[in-house]
Amino acid sequence: MAEASYQTILVKKENGLTTITFNRPEKRNAMSPQLHSDMYRALNELRYDKDTRVIVLTGAGESFCAGQDLKQYFMEMDSQPDSVRDEVRRMSRLWRNEIIRTLPQPVIARINGWCFGGAFTIVTACDIAIAAEDAVFGLSEVNFGNFPGGEVTRVLTEQIQPKHALFYALTGKTLTAKEAERIGLITKAVPRAELDKEVREIANNLLDKDPIALKAVKEAWYYTFYSSPEVAYEISGLVSERIKHEHGGRPGIKQFAEKQYRPGLGAYKWEK
Ligand code: COA
Repeated sequence: MAEASYQTILVKKENGLTTITFNRPEKRNAMSPQLHSDMYRALNELRYDKDTRVIVLTGAGESFCAGQDLKQYFMEMDSQPDSVRDEVRRMSRLWRNEIIRTLPQPVIARINGWCFGGAFTIVTACDIAIAAEDAVFGLSEVNFGNFPGGEVTRVLTEQIQPKHALFYALTGKTLTAKEAERIGLITKAVPRAELDKEVREIANNLLDKDPIALKAVKEAWYYTFYSSPEVAYEISGLVSERIKHEHGGRPGIKQFAEKQYRPGLGAYKWEK
């Protein structure tokens, strides 16, 4: 697939790994309407890109993402017609929620710096989130007389204990990456010097895995979460049947039976 060009993000493809970089460093990568549109388009294109098996999201410069662009997303939108505002909101919500969750590829957040407000929903949407230890997080909305809007409050009530997330929503205090790890906002905080190595190692692990299986893990995970137990069980059964069909059998288990590898210690050899 030819690499498309975007105004506010960079997309780099390398041997199955596609890195998307928020590229407004002079605005600390705040999410403008254009950035929402670019992300919406880029992720929808990557969904069908067979050369993209793992996606990393990161930020240019010293910031991961400073949240919504307070000028362009709020002040300037106030004077736009409802139709324009609704469309921007729609794209803003979708790429940081359903689209990332329903992408067949795993998505890793590589949090290199500032991460505020609406950027929390990027972190919560990504399947895995790794931060440099000196990255700074904050639910700063209360500091400008507001609250964590859009889907921020909803996803945090879903993913984090209230005594943790509500504390930061009320106080607007910043938190360190280690604290973000402790409360379950991110997967892991690592020394800055090891950020790339850690992300690369996880990406390599995922690149080694059968994409059919990775897609199924995500489907089972998220559909189970959002379903009643009996619906979740049915979905699990349907996904399982589809995998068997897509594989034309059970190649991973066959290789195990033939003593070709040990699944406890690594992935089977799948056909690329
Ligand atoms: N929206 C719009 N512009 C933003 C922005 C945001 N969320 N965050 C930073 N910027 C812009 C600043 O307005 C400034 O632009 P200018 O040079 O045209 O004046 C530029 O980015 C640099 O910001 P600055 O504050 O000078 O950078 P800093 O490195 O000293 O501080 C932050 C970085 C992230 C701590 C600080 O910019 C900040 O608090 N931003 C707001 C974060 C926030 O509350 N986000 C929640 C939004 S939902």
